[in-house]
Amino acid sequence: MLVGNPMNAQQLEVCEVQGLNASRIPRHVAIIMDGNGRWAEERGESRVFGHMHGVEAVRLSVEAAMELGVRHLTLYAFSTENWNRPKEEVAALMNLLVDTLVKEVRELGNKGVRLRTIGDIAALPEICQTQLKEAESATKQNEGLDLILALSYSSKWEMVEAIKQLIDSGISPEKVTAECVSDHLSTKGIPDPELMIRTSGEHRISNFLLWQLAYAEFHFTPTLWPDFKKASFFDAVRDFQNRERRFGGLLDTNHNVTVK
Ligand code: FPP
Repeated sequence: MLVGNPMNAQQLEVCEVQGLNASRIPRHVAIIMDGNGRWAEERGESRVFGHMHGVEAVRLSVEAAMELGVRHLTLYAFSTENWNRPKEEVAALMNLLVDTLVKEVRELGNKGVRLRTIGDIAALPEICQTQLKEAESATKQNEGLDLILALSYSSKWEMVEAIKQLIDSGISPEKVTAECVSDHLSTKGIPDPELMIRTSGEHRISNFLLWQLAYAEFHFTPTLWPDFKKASFFDAVRDFQNRERRFGGLLDTNHNVTVK
């Protein structure tokens, strides 16, 4: 059983309709939302137009995750490398983030979504930081779905920060364990993703959750992010459920991983 919370009747029904195994829903799904620019270029539009249409795919993915009882959904919305894009595109992405938060936060809250962030949030414009803080505080009691936005995030940045904190703490080298490294990452307390989805046909992880994805299953789809629908999300979970997860161990006759 991978699900943290027991499933409600509606979630069980969605699983049944979608032909999904309700006892093997990933607890944490992470998504690299890629292809907004190409989607827009195919239509002769600006890249920003693609990002604007990407917001609808975010909404649908949040809904699909909630319908299945996924507990954590992490979206790679802006990487540290994305600061190198033209300043007009960066500004448009920041505005889009603020506009979306202002428009959606009440509805997200009503749906039971808790908004969280990971990344170098201090690098974002003040207005984004303020809106994010407000949205995080307004939704912090919610227990339906943790929606984790990775903003100005990169795994290498996060690991460097963790190393600095560990050195600062004066910990002796023999006391450094995998758990203690995890506890110094921005995802502290959040279980590692079991499924990572990347859209747009690229087969890379682009500096995203390198530590946390150690045993995740990867689902790559050629669908460009603005075309990613609920059905695409369900397809990714179906693909996940068809994988045999051994975590470096072996399976016994009941298909359980054997542990010594
Ligand atoms: C990658 O596509 C996408 C991004 C860098 C931004 C993702 C942002 C959104 C989906 C909208 C806002 C999000 C929230 C959470 C409100 P790309 O531009 O790299 O596409 P390309 O590879 O086709 O050029």
